[in-house]
Amino acid sequence: MPILTIASFKGGPGKTTLCQIISARCAADGLAVAVIDADPTKAMSDWHSSTYEGKPFTCVAETSERSIADLALRLDDTSDLVLIDTAGFGNLAGAVAMTVADQILVPLTAGAADLNQAEETIKQAKGLASAARRKIEVRAIMNRLSRTNLTKHAEQELRDAGIPTLKASVSHRTAFGEISYSGTIPAKGAAADEVTALIAELKAIGWIPERTKTLKGEGI
Ligand SMILES: Nc1ncnc2c1ncn2[C@@H]1O[C@H](COP(=O)(O)OP(=O)(O)O)[C@@H](O)[C@H]1O
Ligand SMILES: [Mg+2]
Repeated sequence: MPILTIASFKGGPGKTTLCQIISARCAADGLAVAVIDADPTKAMSDWHSSTYEGKPFTCVAETSERSIADLALRLDDTSDLVLIDTAGFGNLAGAVAMTVADQILVPLTAGAADLNQAEETIKQAKGLASAARRKIEVRAIMNRLSRTNLTKHAEQELRDAGIPTLKASVSHRTAFGEISYSGTIPAKGAAADEVTALIAELKAIGWIPERTKTLKGEGI
């Protein structure tokens, strides 16, 4: 089953927010989800243990570069999807999380600095995949989009830079900013529609399984 690492070279483009959206929606859809929080700030795991109110999923804080890969492979045996949220400073734990991944999602917001960090993250992912002699798919995703020229400019730059980018994107919305303290992800309206489109695209490209394998015995 897939291991999906969310990575960026700097803090703030929305790794943890995306991790919350994907884990909570996939858990709500009945998938057995396991998350490793590899960021020492523990934003994801603290949210999961203290604030999250949706359908249960596993979330483990593990910041040691020595343990992350084994933990990911162990969780992979019992889960439909393993997600790894990483720190935004390219540490060794982040590199291990990228190397054990089948897929790497790189969020970026509009702006030259973020485009640059996305390019750096993607270069690192490619280097790690070569070092490990395996194929790791990488896609960028635009986060905190607003309908401005700056956004259009960033989209064009992504195309020009040849950065593979998901069609789905996440807008800048209060409903997304509130996740960290509401404990729920948007369930209706335009924000929920964006989450649905994102999950549908990730399923279409095989990054998220269509349905659970762990419930096979239940006749569904
Ligand atoms: N699409 C969005 N709309 C509004 N606020 C967002 C969105 N994505 C992220 N944020 C906010 O931006 C801040 C940084 O996001 P976060 O997911 O923690 O980034 P990272 O994990 O990459 O450091 C948080 O306060 C979060 O709530
Ligand atoms: Mg984070």
